[in-house]
Amino acid sequence: MNQKIRQLGINPNHWYVVARSRDVNTQPLDVILWNQAIVLFRNKQGKIQALENRCPHRQVKLSHGKIIEGNLECAYHGWQFNAQGECVNIPYLAEHQRLPNCKILQYPVEELDGFIWLFPGKNPTQNQPLGVPEWDHLNYIATVSLIHCQAHYSFLIENLMDMYHGHLHQDWQAWTDAILKKINEDNHRVDAHYQAKSYYKIDKIWSISQLFFPALRQLHPEPLEVSYIYPHWVSTLGKDFKIYCLFCPVSLTETKAYLIHFTSLHSFWRLHKLPIPFRRFLKNKLFGSAQKLLDGLVEQDVKMIEEEQQTYLNQPQQKSYEFNPTLASVQRLIQHQEFLE
Ligand code: FES
Ligand SMILES: [Fe+2]
Repeated sequence: MNQKIRQLGINPNHWYVVARSRDVNTQPLDVILWNQAIVLFRNKQGKIQALENRCPHRQVKLSHGKIIEGNLECAYHGWQFNAQGECVNIPYLAEHQRLPNCKILQYPVEELDGFIWLFPGKNPTQNQPLGVPEWDHLNYIATVSLIHCQAHYSFLIENLMDMYHGHLHQDWQAWTDAILKKINEDNHRVDAHYQAKSYYKIDKIWSISQLFFPALRQLHPEPLEVSYIYPHWVSTLGKDFKIYCLFCPVSLTETKAYLIHFTSLHSFWRLHKLPIPFRRFLKNKLFGSAQKLLDGLVEQDVKMIEEEQQTYLNQPQQKSYEFNPTLASVQRLIQHQEFLE
């Protein structure tokens, strides 16, 4: 294993996920993406905006302030900034004084599929946010769990791409006995194809109860696909499960990410004939039904990932042994992307 990877940065020319849509309401929200302090807020029309989280007057965080008429007002002396990061008002400015020319950084930001996507690089049109098309689709039931770990993002993506770590979760997760069949790799993504056995088959209305009662589960073979679509992760297990992990690397030793688990209702054709408002009601009602399960898995993974980081910090020369070639592919992709920066 190449431990130098733990010192690598991110390629900023991608869309990262910095918050959930519902986290940004009437108050500004501070987030950090790869050491950059950023403040998110909504303008008068409710459109999301992102600025450097620093008042150019005395360098305090703008996120302590308020939103006034769609502008961001600093808590300290009340200077106001528009969505372009220009100072537009100073409450005690004398008549003969002019507003200072102290523009702060504005970031390209978009709200899409329940999340806030931010582009920290130079040319936001060069690629699109990954998006989560299942988010609003009536046939998918979502659960979201926040991963917050004190570790470099490479440890998290290696965990997610290595399906041999099912050992850690025992019968907590949907699959077992994964065997790596094939890897496809280029400069943008790594796709690992595993064959696994799944515990769940979601084809009857009561199938969901398998999530809670292990005795109802029956093992059957299913393909398990995991993809590192830099900088995010997507996985499918058969037709019934899809999981995303949307990354927000905070620093060399801290990572935030959103794990989104979808259970598909596509087998319930009777359900699809019901009126759309009812289907939406059902989707919303079932939102978060796998919460305990997902949070439990995340807790187990985070513990391992943080321990790997700690050992790396204490003994960076320590040699590791690896049998899953997917991890070498992941590391090559990280190195390549960092080089592109
Ligand atoms: S520090 Fe922000 S207005 Fe003075
Ligand atoms: Fe895991």
